[in-house]
Amino acid sequence: MSGFIFSEKPIELVEGDGSYVTDSNGTEYLDMGASYACVPLGHGHEAVDEAVRDQFDRLTYVQASYPVEIRTKLYELLAETAPKTVDKVWLCNSGTEANEAALKFARSATGNSKIVSTKRGFHGRTMGALATTWKDKYKKPYEPLMGDVEFVPYDDAEAMADAIDDDTAAVIVEPVQGEGGINPARKEFLQRTRVETATSGAALIFDEVQTGMGRTGTLWASEWADVVPDMITSAKGLGNGLPVGATLCRDWIADNYGSHASTFSGGPVISAAAHATVSTIVDEEIPAHADKIGEYMRAELEAELGDDVRDVRGEGLMIGIEVKRGANRILRDLAIDQQLLALPAGRTVVRLLPPLTLSEDEADEAVDALSEVIG
Ligand SMILES: Cc1ncc(COP(=O)(O)O)c(C=O)c1O
Repeated sequence: MSGFIFSEKPIELVEGDGSYVTDSNGTEYLDMGASYACVPLGHGHEAVDEAVRDQFDRLTYVQASYPVEIRTKLYELLAETAPKTVDKVWLCNSGTEANEAALKFARSATGNSKIVSTKRGFHGRTMGALATTWKDKYKKPYEPLMGDVEFVPYDDAEAMADAIDDDTAAVIVEPVQGEGGINPARKEFLQRTRVETATSGAALIFDEVQTGMGRTGTLWASEWADVVPDMITSAKGLGNGLPVGATLCRDWIADNYGSHASTFSGGPVISAAAHATVSTIVDEEIPAHADKIGEYMRAELEAELGDDVRDVRGEGLMIGIEVKRGANRILRDLAIDQQLLALPAGRTVVRLLPPLTLSEDEADEAVDALSEVIG
């Protein structure tokens, strides 16, 4: 039997512990990709696993219109930890659904249809989120997609200001582009976008599906950007491996969201996973750790790789190494020769999104392996 669509790697992973995963032959790999940032607390995190097992034993599923204690606690926790006033929570199952909801909410709350997005941005693969994603390779086979989307160059404040007008429902933007190549935005760009959207009455959506959960050194990237958006979308690391997404909204959005729902929204088990994940990240000050180790790693990578690479960039533990040859070959050599798993971001960027609990020794191990293959 074979599945279709996903190309499978020649490594079957069977176990995970902290920053490491083990394959079916017993070979251990340092997991510097965390399966696209989905395990911020590392594999097999005790508090998360226990919370899931406990909830699973008590009540696996009940539809969202019945209050469930753990879901209520998750709503409260997200509201407490979100930037002030972005405290109404819609729960779903993935990043694309979180963005799909945000786009719908913006259209409903503003009565407008135009969405402004950014070149090289990635927001998901359902029809609405896909329409706001930049790369043609993801979109072409499925056109026509949702209309009325304008793309502007990323980090270009003037172009963004020009694109936002009285007909704009929303701007959707990643504070650091992930899929597009690990491109951090300047604070000034994000702040100007905030001012322009507020002036026109459009909603500002920060897509924090990849940057959230402490990845860029603060729980939400909007904190270091010093911007309070109208919506923040989250998924990936939110449940430390379980499928959960969230759209955090301000009142004016939540009060006018229209009619949106999903059967599995906020099921008890994924709520337990997300609650345990977020509370651990906050209580153990994981974002500050990610900030420190990320800065250390980027400095070490720059020192070790020097002129052998075009650039080392990122925020916190969201790191991109722009290489001079194809990233895929490097990723293969890293896995096979160095037992290190990393990710691509386009053709020429090696992307690192490790567990945020990564130790300095593990960071050193990763730098050594990357120097062996790239240097
Ligand atoms: C910034 C961003 N938004 C949205 C998505 C889509 O998330 P999902 O794959 O969970 O639908 C991704 C996934 O890579 C992402 O990086």
